Amino acid sequence: NNLKTVFKDAFYIGTALNVAQIEEKDKIEVTLIQKQFNSITAENCMKSMFVQPKKGVFDFSLSDKFVAFGQKNKMFIHGHTLIWHSQLAPWMEKITTKEEMADFIKNHITTIVTHHKGKINSWDVVNEAVNDDGSLRNSVFLKTMGESYLQEAFRLAAAADPNVDLYYNDYSMTNPAKRAGVIKMVQNIQAKGIKIDGIGMQGHWQLESPSIDEIETSIVAYAKLGVKVAITELDISVLPNPWELQGAEISQRFENSPKMNPYPKSLPDSIQDKLAKRYAQIFQLFEKHKDKISRVTFWGVHDQQSWLNDWPIKGRTNYPLLFDINLKPKKAYFEVLKTK
Ligand code: XIL
Repeated sequence: NNLKTVFKDAFYIGTALNVAQIEEKDKIEVTLIQKQFNSITAENCMKSMFVQPKKGVFDFSLSDKFVAFGQKNKMFIHGHTLIWHSQLAPWMEKITTKEEMADFIKNHITTIVTHHKGKINSWDVVNEAVNDDGSLRNSVFLKTMGESYLQEAFRLAAAADPNVDLYYNDYSMTNPAKRAGVIKMVQNIQAKGIKIDGIGMQGHWQLESPSIDEIETSIVAYAKLGVKVAITELDISVLPNPWELQGAEISQRFENSPKMNPYPKSLPDSIQDKLAKRYAQIFQLFEKHKDKISRVTFWGVHDQQSWLNDWPIKGRTNYPLLFDINLKPKKAYFEVLKTK
């Protein structure tokens, strides 16, 4: 059995990928990806710093390989991400005028979307533009262009490829204040008659939070806008969150602290069970709302290469995915399959 077949009637099952994973000489990982997933998201290779490292100089060497892998395997291909405040090339951070920023946005979006036109199924046009309190993030885009950059981004993406689905994507999408802010932002785009097809909830969640109720309320609220809802970056951290212990501070002194890295060698059975149960509850909820959900994408294939081993503290051992460091399915995998 496998994920993509079991959930075929419900939604695409995807994973984030780095290009190194699909070039691997030993084919075990590639075989696993082909067997389990029918959708892929670019984990890094389409981000601004890689695609336009210097002004006007585009490099599609990595993103072309990523797209070719998806096409070869007949997968749903999701592009991530066109406009984001993070992983920008240094020159982009130095933009100070409205004209320069408008030029950048136009050239960046048009060139990338046109380059991959007809090969990519959906794009994260804007990523993480809203703060947790619902206000707009004071990014280099907002500072130079005001909120018009949001509408411009979606307008330009639709102009470059009218057939690709356009998403807004963000984290903490279950937080009520942020949810209200995102809804308002999307309504402003819709009110201008600009195309927006979907909302992506990143799904970087923990064992205890957010609650299933909070997730459900959010899926329903976003779907009410008349857009598709995708769970775009699903992983469930089993480690303590430093913010919860230390307010807003992420401190280097947590590095190597046993408190912050409690399971360096293996995951205790009790936590393995909790993770399995949590994943099962989440997938039961997704199943209930499959009419609203277009795609569920994990942020990585297996625990060895999860970004959560290095974030928000470097060098931890986290266990957030369905496959372990040896690429073997975990209890959570079998519990997820059993929900169908
Ligand atoms: C992360 C990648 O997983 C890491 O490899 C990279 O170093 C930093 O970015 N939200 C997003 C993703 O939208 O692009 C981020 O991906 C994780 C948080």
